[in-house]
Amino acid sequence: MVILLAFLLLMFYGAANIHCAAVSHGNRTDMLALLDFKAATNDPTGALRSWDRRVHYCNWTGVACSQENPGRVGGLHLGGESLSGEITPSLGNLTYLQDLNLSSNGFSGQLPSLNQLHELLILDLSSNSFHGIIPDSITNCSNLKAMDLSRNMLEGPIPTKIGSLYNLIGIDLSMNNLTGVIPPSISNATHLQMIILQENELQGGIPDVFGQWSNMIGFVVGKNRLSGRIPPSIFNLTSLQYLGLYVNKLQGELPHDIGNTLPEIILFSLGENMLHGHIPASLGNASRLQLMDLSDNSFVGEIPIFGKLPNLENLNLGYNMLESSESQRWESLYGLTNCSNLYALTLDNNQLQGAIPDLVGKLSTKLTRLHMNGNNLSGIVPLSLANRSSIIDLDLSNNSLTGKIEGWLGSLINLQYLDLHGNNFAGSIPPSFGNLSELTILSLAQNEFEGPIPPTLGKLSQLSRLDLSYNNLQGEIPPEISELKQLISLYLSSSRLSGKIPDDLGKCQGLITIQMDHNNLTGVIPTSLGNLLSLDMLNLSYNDL
Ligand SMILES: *[C@@H]1O[C@H](CO)[C@@H](O)[C@H](O)[C@H]1NC(C)=O
Ligand SMILES: *[C@@H]1O[C@H](CO)[C@@H](O)[C@H](O)[C@H]1NC(C)=O
Ligand SMILES: *[C@@H]1O[C@H](CO)[C@@H](O)[C@H](O)[C@H]1NC(C)=O
Ligand SMILES: *[C@@H]1O[C@H](CO)[C@@H](O)[C@H](O)[C@H]1NC(C)=O
Ligand SMILES: *[C@@H]1O[C@H](CO)[C@@H](O)[C@H](O)[C@H]1NC(C)=O
Ligand SMILES: *[C@@H]1O[C@H](CO)[C@@H](O)[C@H](O)[C@H]1NC(C)=O
Ligand SMILES: *[C@@H]1O[C@H](CO)[C@@H](O)[C@H](O)[C@H]1NC(C)=O
Ligand SMILES: *[C@@H]1O[C@H](CO)[C@@H](O)[C@H](O)[C@H]1NC(C)=O
Ligand SMILES: *[C@@H]1O[C@H](CO)[C@@H](O)[C@H](O)[C@H]1NC(C)=O
Ligand SMILES: *[C@@H]1O[C@H](CO)[C@@H](O)[C@H](O)[C@H]1NC(C)=O
Ligand SMILES: *[C@@H]1O[C@H](CO)[C@@H](O)[C@H](O)[C@H]1NC(C)=O
Ligand SMILES: *[C@@H]1O[C@H](CO)[C@@H](O)[C@H](O)[C@H]1NC(C)=O
Repeated sequence: MVILLAFLLLMFYGAANIHCAAVSHGNRTDMLALLDFKAATNDPTGALRSWDRRVHYCNWTGVACSQENPGRVGGLHLGGESLSGEITPSLGNLTYLQDLNLSSNGFSGQLPSLNQLHELLILDLSSNSFHGIIPDSITNCSNLKAMDLSRNMLEGPIPTKIGSLYNLIGIDLSMNNLTGVIPPSISNATHLQMIILQENELQGGIPDVFGQWSNMIGFVVGKNRLSGRIPPSIFNLTSLQYLGLYVNKLQGELPHDIGNTLPEIILFSLGENMLHGHIPASLGNASRLQLMDLSDNSFVGEIPIFGKLPNLENLNLGYNMLESSESQRWESLYGLTNCSNLYALTLDNNQLQGAIPDLVGKLSTKLTRLHMNGNNLSGIVPLSLANRSSIIDLDLSNNSLTGKIEGWLGSLINLQYLDLHGNNFAGSIPPSFGNLSELTILSLAQNEFEGPIPPTLGKLSQLSRLDLSYNNLQGEIPPEISELKQLISLYLSSSRLSGKIPDDLGKCQGLITIQMDHNNLTGVIPTSLGNLLSLDMLNLSYNDL
């Protein structure tokens, strides 16, 4: 969101009209204020080296003098200069200052008192370590158009009179520790286009003030403790592009025509709330959508057919109570085959039933993440999935899927994370696993795999977690397992493995967990296991060792 505000601020930059101008007569007040600021500031990289009385202060690094008021400081641009310390009150003596940017430094202490800065248009103090409250006196800077105080440690309430900053266009107070409510007075700042308050401790309802703001572009208040209904007027903001309400306690249903009343929406992020009802089919009309996150709510019914979402990149409907019925035959997925930029599809922990349709193979060639775990999917995985070799992260765990896996798995050579545990997959573990050289996490547990563990698994040099437990695997544990130098967890419990534990297993120096209980292992416990300094859990019970 930082980027969004920066974009807005850029738009006004011209308005501030700040240039270095040659001046004949200076003003001592400004120079003294700047020198006082310098004296109180730690400057390890010498960013303020040029701040020297022998040079006119209009030529000092980061200082811009005003054109309308020659010789007066109009801008102070010291973002990202490794400066620290507390800010002197004398900064408030720069009465012609229009643009103050001290972002991305290490300034600390209370926010400076800026109540004399009536000309201030842009205030960017983001990414510092300011603490304490936002002083009410900031509302005296009545010309402020953009205020960014994000990424500090500010606490206490947002000033109740914030709405008297009626020229505000953008405000970003995100990632602080602000408490209290969103002040209703904010409705008086009718020029607002961007309100970014995410990651604070704000409570109460979202005030129903959106009728005032026909030009609103972004409203992002995720990760707070906001409750109550989403004011219906939000859904009337025809120019809204970014709506971030995620991780709050908001309730209610979404209006059925939302996709038609928010035609410009790009980011629609409502995950982790208490919303219910159906997902409106009209969202399929919001053709600019890139991110739709409705996860972790209580949405019911079928996933609508999202027809025209050519820009959709990330769809997350996980942790709801969504269904797929025989009659609908996954037509919703059919709609998604036109989303050529879709890289993440997350439908986990719903009540989807029936077989995964062949359409998965027609999803975007950019698909990297497919999560359909925790549903009631059955039947075989369509072979067409093999066409999506872009997939990095595949989770089909905790369903009732059956059949062999080699047909669709072998060509997914970019897989890093594969979780198939808790299904009814059968047949052998294909040796072609050895080609999935990027795998870091592999779980095939709780299935009906049989036959030997293929020695090719030893080629998975990135593997950190291998879980093959609760299957019907037979034969010896291949010694090649000892080649898995990144291995941290090895689970082989409850199969029918026999023979001895590989002598060299102790070469996997990172191992923390080894579980091989409930097999038919014989021989002696390899002494090399004694070298595993990180080992925390070793379970070899119920064998014939
Ligand atoms: C700033 O520096 C430039 C060149 O270095 C000079 O021409 C100009 O007069 C200086 N401005 C002031 C206000 O001293
Ligand atoms: C300098 O600025 C102060 C405060 O704005 C003002 O009182 C004073 O007259 C100015 N002096 C000159 C020389 O511009
Ligand atoms: C700032 O202004 C106040 C009051 O106008 C004055 O007392 C103080 O000395 C000034 N500070 C600097 C550093 O000029
Ligand atoms: C403030 O300065 C930083 C670093 O120079 C820059 O990235 C940021 O866009 C500036 N903020 C504004 C509001 O212009
Ligand atoms: C706001 O500015 C006016 C005029 O300079 C001043 O009288 C008043 O005390 C200021 N208010 C606050 C809260 O600082
Ligand atoms: C917010 O406050 C809590 C406790 O008061 C503190 O642990 C946490 O570090 C604070 N977070 C920020 C970003 O200041
Ligand atoms: C908005 O401004 C009007 C007029 O200045 C004022 O009467 C009203 O109290 C303000 N509203 C809020 C909610 O602060
Ligand atoms: C939304 O806009 C329509 C048309 O402008 C208006 O009739 C309706 O009352 C508005 N709804 C809300 C909740 O603001
Ligand atoms: C999508 O938009 C079209 C054209 O405006 C409209 O006819 C259709 O009813 C809309 N679909 C939904 C589900 O609202
Ligand atoms: C996909 O796009 C094509 C071409 O624009 C269109 O004919 C087809 O109906 C679309 N499919 C879906 C499911 O919207
Ligand atoms: C899973 O689907 C089967 C039918 O395919 C059904 O009998 C069973 O009740 C479903 N289980 C759950 C938990 O929904
Ligand atoms: C272990 O081996 C014994 C004899 O070799 C056999 O009777 C038993 O069924 C085996 N147990 C398992 C779990 O395979």
